[in-house]
Amino acid sequence: MNILVTGGAGFIGSHLVDALIERGHTVRILDSLVEQVHGPTPPEHLNQQAEFIQGDVNDAEIVAKALDKVEVVYHQAAEVGVGQSMYEIVRYVKANDLGTAVLLEEMIKRPQQFKKLIVASSMSIYGEGAYRCEFCDKSIFPFLRPSEQLAAHDWDFKCDECGSELRTIGTSEEKPLYPTSVYAVSKQDQEQFCLAVGRAYKIPTVALRYFNVYGTRQALSNPYTGVCAIFSSRLLNDQAPTIFEDGEQSRDFVNVKDIVQANLLAMETSGGDYQAFNIGTGRATSIKQISELLAAGLGKDIAPVIVGKYREGDIRHCVADISKAKEMLGYTPSVTLEDGLAELLKWLGEQDAEDKVEAATAELTSRALVK
Ligand SMILES: NC(=O)c1ccc[n+]([C@@H]2O[C@H](COP(=O)([O-])OP(=O)(O)OC[C@H]3O[C@@H](n4cnc5c(N)ncnc54)[C@H](O)[C@@H]3O)[C@@H](O)[C@H]2O)c1
Ligand SMILES: [Zn+2]
Repeated sequence: MNILVTGGAGFIGSHLVDALIERGHTVRILDSLVEQVHGPTPPEHLNQQAEFIQGDVNDAEIVAKALDKVEVVYHQAAEVGVGQSMYEIVRYVKANDLGTAVLLEEMIKRPQQFKKLIVASSMSIYGEGAYRCEFCDKSIFPFLRPSEQLAAHDWDFKCDECGSELRTIGTSEEKPLYPTSVYAVSKQDQEQFCLAVGRAYKIPTVALRYFNVYGTRQALSNPYTGVCAIFSSRLLNDQAPTIFEDGEQSRDFVNVKDIVQANLLAMETSGGDYQAFNIGTGRATSIKQISELLAAGLGKDIAPVIVGKYREGDIRHCVADISKAKEMLGYTPSVTLEDGLAELLKWLGEQDAEDKVEAATAELTSRALVK
């Protein structure tokens, strides 16, 4: 199959490209090599067997060329910094919203050419995860915690009706979407633009809502992205990771290999066409645990610093309910957090990470996004 991967030079895209080439597909990459992600030179992991086009998804002429003879499009390209999206708004809307619009406009000039469009969506579109009050016997989908609650350093959700503490449950695709950052809104747009246009032009389209992805090749020097990369780059520079709130907030950490698995299944089966799926593991891990696991693995006796600060728009818990992907795509997560982190740590040992986290936190603080 002839396949285009936008953002194929990035963390997730590059793993996907490798897997596709391994399966004998002909792969073309369209990636602008965003400097914040890659630095001044193309990444070493860029697969030499793929055709590489350096270009922006906003450039219709380049996109048209990149689509030549392509049967399957994986749209992974995006600007990915959640905090940064709150002040570089035009940049995020341009890359994520307009970029997707340009790609789709070029695709619908020849819709019959495409067998599949698979778009990278994100758990960030949910906002807070799903909860249950055992006492009232009901599910609750809260919006963000009010500012006053956070200012009082009262981190957990309580039931509006009975006041008891809520229990976190798996977030399913049906949960109402409450995106709370420009990044999250733009991911929702990317997903829904693709699904809507795909449906209208009969291009089978699948949206995969990735949870917190970790693994080798994650940009370590980009301080605006994944928590595993951020903590690792701190630890490698003998600095303590800084943890917001009390460290008990939890996420669903999914290895990049399982993200690749889901992407392959979305292409190879038709069971998921025109649908959106959670791609995670179903297991919740606290931020404090992640920091401790990484420090232990790197042999660094550095405890995280829990500063009790918080970030506007941050959620408390979100863990995936993956039953839909299991049923309709045949997806089963295969990498445990222990194994995945061990592999990440081995790779980290070979990296030279420039620590820009302090500068980034100062930037967010100066814009009143960290309190
Ligand atoms: N990493 C995660 O935890 C996570 C979670 C949910 C969703 N996602 C989504 O997965 C996708 C891949 O993310 P990643 O973690 O690999 O990030 P990444 O930054 O490593 O990869 C994104 C790639 O897209 C390229 N790119 C950005 N803007 C572009 C543009 N306008 N034109 C062409 N190329 C452009 C970048 O140069 C980069 O190589 C993104 O769509 C992201 O929103 C990632
Ligand atoms: Zn209750």
